[in-house]
Amino acid sequence: MSDTPYQNIQSEDKSSDVVWHLASVSHQQRVKLNGHKPAVLWFTGLSGSGKSTVANAVDKMLHDIGCKTYVLDGDNVRHGLNGDLSFTDTDRVENIRRIGEVSKLFVDAGLLVSTAFISPFIKDREMVRAQLGNGEFIEVFIDTPLEVCESRDPKGLYKKARAGEIKNFTGIDSSYELPVNPEIQVKTADKSVQACAVQVIDYLRANDYLAG
Ligand code: ADX
Repeated sequence: MSDTPYQNIQSEDKSSDVVWHLASVSHQQRVKLNGHKPAVLWFTGLSGSGKSTVANAVDKMLHDIGCKTYVLDGDNVRHGLNGDLSFTDTDRVENIRRIGEVSKLFVDAGLLVSTAFISPFIKDREMVRAQLGNGEFIEVFIDTPLEVCESRDPKGLYKKARAGEIKNFTGIDSSYELPVNPEIQVKTADKSVQACAVQVIDYLRANDYLAG
């Protein structure tokens, strides 16, 4: 990441009177202090696929080895920052746009941030990737078949969606675009949460994100 996280971005809406204030502590200094490479672990997959569960297990493992981390979770963020957004395609795009911006700030702060959002559209996930530096966006496809997610139905939402009580439900009457070339593909139906999290940690180790 360069001096400002917005170096190459030009917004037509932004007033030309808004000037970027350079921080006293640089990104490089933060990264050095933290002792690991920062990145977004972008968990994507259907509702009930295990995104939050695996993301939190990964977060705990990283925290335990001294990494600076955070988890941004769809269900939680939609209570606050994105509490004004619905599940129409337009609002889902805005949901991911905002999370992309927030993730970028976390990466600028030197963290390994895990995001757990369905993020159903390829274009939006690629937009977030494009806003980050090389290796700063790691797409983690939580690849759990719809039948398995529906049989788990941890919040009873598939049942409601099938009964027509929830509209635009991903996998039922709203689409999910499969990742084309994710950095990590986790098949949760075949293994334990622990094993899924270890797969992610192994990727980080193999690609020199973690010290030692
Ligand atoms: S996203 O599509 O915009 O990325 P996000 O991850 O923020 O979705 O939120 C998904 C969560 O909201 C689901 O795990 C589920 O608990 C809840 N939810 C409520 N309504 C819907 C819906 N119509 N489609 C998908 N998830 C929904």
